[in-house]
Amino acid sequence: PKYELVEASVVGEKKNVGLVRLNRPKALNALCDALVSDLAQAVTLLEKSPSIGAIVITGSEKAFAAGADIKEMKDTSFASNVNVGLLQEWDKISACKKPIIAAVNGYALGGGCELAMMCDIIYAGDKARFGQPEVTIGTIPGAGGTQRIARSCGKSKAMEICLSGNPFTAEEAERMGLVSKIFPADKLVDEAVKLAEKIASHSPLIIALCKESVKKAFETSLNEGLSFEKRIFHATFSTNDQKEGMQAFVEKRAPKFTNS
Ligand code: HXC
Repeated sequence: PKYELVEASVVGEKKNVGLVRLNRPKALNALCDALVSDLAQAVTLLEKSPSIGAIVITGSEKAFAAGADIKEMKDTSFASNVNVGLLQEWDKISACKKPIIAAVNGYALGGGCELAMMCDIIYAGDKARFGQPEVTIGTIPGAGGTQRIARSCGKSKAMEICLSGNPFTAEEAERMGLVSKIFPADKLVDEAVKLAEKIASHSPLIIALCKESVKKAFETSLNEGLSFEKRIFHATFSTNDQKEGMQAFVEKRAPKFTNS
């Protein structure tokens, strides 16, 4: 389908990667309702598409996304926010069962930084600027900023970032573990797609289980997480793709996964 504020395409040599580009350049991809709705729809469609093994979300070289749309939300009220379920659409991104890579160039501020953190992996361009500037405009992060930075980078970094509102560079983000790798801005999307292609070359079924298992690490105690992981590991032995993967190894050939 044709979206107004995102561009969705199927890329990769084997056409197994979904690429979603936020496309609202006039507002530096500020995440207005219409954009988030387009984004959620595009991701949901790619999630349902059997040929797609992984998804890349990116913006422009100037901005991944400069935050939630300040102009759109400035006059809303507590009651209306609760009643319309403000930010509910965003949950569709974090609930996606397929791996999502955020390819972040330029500004990833406020809701933009939070959107990147909803993804499973963040690759950053060398000029990327992250931050949670909400306190500078009289509010706080509302789409996971205080929670996800705390979980991936610890208390001191989370407090510093959220309480100061100061932006930070791609290098700092990589050092604190928020970002996996940094690339020159013009190579970033290609590199993210390459990683997505690698992920998509595996069994989608096994990849979904693996993603679910890593996510558990953020939801449970270590013991519960370990026991969840072990059970899922056991369960993979009931799949055709485990049989095929291990048989292919023994026969010194590439596996042919069937998502079953
Ligand atoms: C609405 C925005 C916007 C935003 C930029 N624009 N960010 N509109 N919401 N978050 C618009 C500007 O109003 C301007 O429109 C156009 O985009 C270009 O922006 P400029 O400011 O002129 O560009 P520049 O001088 O290059 O500065 C870039 C910037 C700055 C540093 C990123 O735009 C900025 O500080 N933006 C706001 C960042 C922010 O506070 N984000 C957090 C939002 S709160 P016009 O029409 O004037 O040309 C948030 C809450 C999250 O995200 C909670 C739940 C999701």
